[in-house]
Amino acid sequence: MYSPSDDTFFIANAIVKYHGNYALEIGVGSGYLTEILCNNYKFVFGTDIDFASVKQSKIFLKNFNNKFLICCDVCEPVRFMFDIIISNPPYLPSGDENIKDSTIYGGHTGTETTLRILQLFKSNLKDEGRMIFLKSSLSDDKKINQFVDDNFLKKRILAKKKSFYENLEICEITKR
Ligand SMILES: C[S@@+](CC[C@H](N)C(=O)[O-])C[C@H]1O[C@@H](n2cnc3c(N)ncnc32)[C@H](O)[C@@H]1O
Repeated sequence: MYSPSDDTFFIANAIVKYHGNYALEIGVGSGYLTEILCNNYKFVFGTDIDFASVKQSKIFLKNFNNKFLICCDVCEPVRFMFDIIISNPPYLPSGDENIKDSTIYGGHTGTETTLRILQLFKSNLKDEGRMIFLKSSLSDDKKINQFVDDNFLKKRILAKKKSFYENLEICEITKR
């Protein structure tokens, strides 16, 4: 399971100011970000592909009656439109290595899992909703920008942070 780390705290600062009715988090991990959503939204749906993370976050969030957590790939079985979708996705590029750790590796260029999450704007995001996700300079920016342009979306950078080995950005995507 992914323990809350610098990237978790960075995106936490960005999402804490949003409030509303229906929120979705992809990749709940420990449940740290989900807790913020539970405090700020009426109903929170969270998913993780790792069963141990879902189990652990259910324990961590046991006092919240407004959450629903399941183990699945992205949010495959969920048929619902949300006001906000957030994710601190795995973003390290695995390159040609056959690495299976989906806690931190986001596919060949590091953006493959992120791009699958961004596809949810079609099926699970209200027209006036927003998606907020973390992006690292270690993953391939061009693919995300191309996706945004191809789908006539709007991308805004809410915060930037430089660290020793990577630059992190909190990105917001809305339908134009
Ligand atoms: C970088 S961790 C972030 C965890 C937590 N949200 C945080 O910020 O500390 C990424 C999380 O996404 C989950 N994940 C990876 N691929 C996924 C997928 N296809 N569907 C759902 N969850 C996924 C991982 O198991 C992991 O818990």
